[in-house]
Amino acid sequence: MSGITFDYMEQYIRNLIGDNANVLKELEDYAVENSVPIIHKEVARFIELIINIKRPLKILELGTAIGYSSILMCSTSKEIRKIHTIERDKNMIEIANENIKKYGFQDKIKVISGECLDVLSKLDEKYDLIFMDAGKGHYNHFLPYCLNLLEKDGIIIADNVLFRGMVACDKLVKRRKITIVKRMRKYLEMVSNNKEFITSIIPMGDGIAVTIRRNKDE
Ligand SMILES: C[S@@+](CC[C@H](N)C(=O)[O-])C[C@H]1O[C@@H](n2cnc3c(N)ncnc32)[C@H](O)[C@@H]1O
Repeated sequence: MSGITFDYMEQYIRNLIGDNANVLKELEDYAVENSVPIIHKEVARFIELIINIKRPLKILELGTAIGYSSILMCSTSKEIRKIHTIERDKNMIEIANENIKKYGFQDKIKVISGECLDVLSKLDEKYDLIFMDAGKGHYNHFLPYCLNLLEKDGIIIADNVLFRGMVACDKLVKRRKITIVKRMRKYLEMVSNNKEFITSIIPMGDGIAVTIRRNKDE
């Protein structure tokens, strides 16, 4: 049980998506064999959908791992000019760079080595899409930086926001996860209770939150 949705529902949706006849299947298999957490299949499909609607030119990702989601995003649209993706684990960075090269995206995807918070405080360009997928216990701390780096009409997609259901239900909370859960709740309150934003929280995968700035002209 994912704690978010029913297993039969996830299975049904994942079967519909299928194996993608996917060039990324090799990376998906590697992730399973080596227990590397990558985005769930239905989240991958959702991100592809958003990219095709939004058509971002510049993307910032928090959490590269083996480069799966950044390669997926880059393959989805030829219009993407650059993806900056932040990762602190040296081993992951090495594997991601190999994969990025293998898929021919070395001119578009740049892995930035470091702690998200440090890197975020130093970046000074604007992005059309920001994908948060690292440091679950710090999304609330990342948010002000991400908002500074987000184009006026940009989108933030945050993964794992329901964290195995714990964020929505006290009975599911494991004691050692309580700090992450509290901070994730804080993040969701920050993006949900502020009239300047429109946020939709979707119980998909481990839970995603999609945030945009409300159009002030309305
Ligand atoms: C869930 S994985 C990213 C998966 C990737 N987005 C994908 O779907 O292919 C999270 C990654 O973020 C990295 N990470 C976690 N906390 C971090 C932090 N505070 N700063 C930088 N990287 C971090 C981990 O080392 C891990 O590789």
